[in-house]
Amino acid sequence: MAIRSILAGVGAYLPDRAVSNDELARTVETSDEWIRERTGIRQRYIAAPHETAAFMATAAARAALADAGAGPAEVDAIILATSTPDQAFPATALRVQAALGVTKGFGFDIAAACAGFIYALSVADSMLRTGQARGALVIGSEVYSRIMNWQDRGTCVLFGDGAGAVFLRADEDAGRTDRGILSTHLHAQGTLGDILYVDGAVGRHDKPGHLVMNGREVFRHAVVRLAEAVAEALAANGLTQRDIDWLVPHQANLRIIDAMGRKLGLPPERVVITVDRHANTSAASVPLALAEARKDGRIRNGDLVLMEALGGGLTWGSALVRM
Ligand code: COA
Repeated sequence: MAIRSILAGVGAYLPDRAVSNDELARTVETSDEWIRERTGIRQRYIAAPHETAAFMATAAARAALADAGAGPAEVDAIILATSTPDQAFPATALRVQAALGVTKGFGFDIAAACAGFIYALSVADSMLRTGQARGALVIGSEVYSRIMNWQDRGTCVLFGDGAGAVFLRADEDAGRTDRGILSTHLHAQGTLGDILYVDGAVGRHDKPGHLVMNGREVFRHAVVRLAEAVAEALAANGLTQRDIDWLVPHQANLRIIDAMGRKLGLPPERVVITVDRHANTSAASVPLALAEARKDGRIRNGDLVLMEALGGGLTWGSALVRM
């Protein structure tokens, strides 16, 4: 029987401090009305100095393990998506490994910007299916507040901090019951790297490392690419739009999310939305949304969940999961 990756547990962490649009409007020329109309964002969480990617990832991972009824001994792999790691190395995943008391297996970080969680999920799923691990933590953790240009109103109002995690378990019987990750699909187009990027990193001391974005271009590509990714996921599994119970999209902009929901013919109540409260938490946004809808009982066992995300790179992808 083929091995499937079961999504056994979910967890989330948000910083203590919520910052409203009105509060931002005190330091940058913007307004609550502009931000809400263009993006759907009402507030975002901003990390305190101690709330690093590793700190938040550890909290989300602990919650995911608890949700799965699993302990550190069950964790073989930690795959962590972040563009805002604590250090160049060790990988943030290994700081999490140490904090959780996991003493075996392996871990590494993935940098795929806002599509990072989908990338990490895909890699973990492949490793579980091929027997390289039996239990994997897949985490998205980001502190974009530290790479914002707080003078650039075109970007600084859009992002927030947080972490989300899932615990995957290899299951030999899942193929029979049709549970688990059905498929993932990854894409990238490096030639579009200049429409959304960070202009520096530890290897570039001449640059501070701030996020730069051509919002209109990103918007245009997001709608087209994500629609393609969704169609690809359904076709690969012989499914149609009507089979989808939940859309858990990347939370960048309510207008992009609404467009995707309409394309799929899904009523708004079948689309999980957190962008209003979390803003865009990049690689953390999909697992944060998934954790919220799982915890509040909306997404139940047996439901078919479609996740999709697009980010700087460009990177994009989808994952289809039967809970
Ligand atoms: N407050 C007030 N005005 C703002 C503003 C802000 N925070 N940010 C930009 N503006 C102004 C611009 O300066 C511009 O003014 P001008 O016409 O006088 O030059 C005007 O609003 C329109 O700007 P524009 O960038 O064309 O707005 P838009 O309708 O394209 O919306 C985004 C901007 C960023 C909300 C939108 O392009 C978007 O959501 N893009 C996708 C971003 C995304 O998803 N990124 C993450 C992908 S992972």
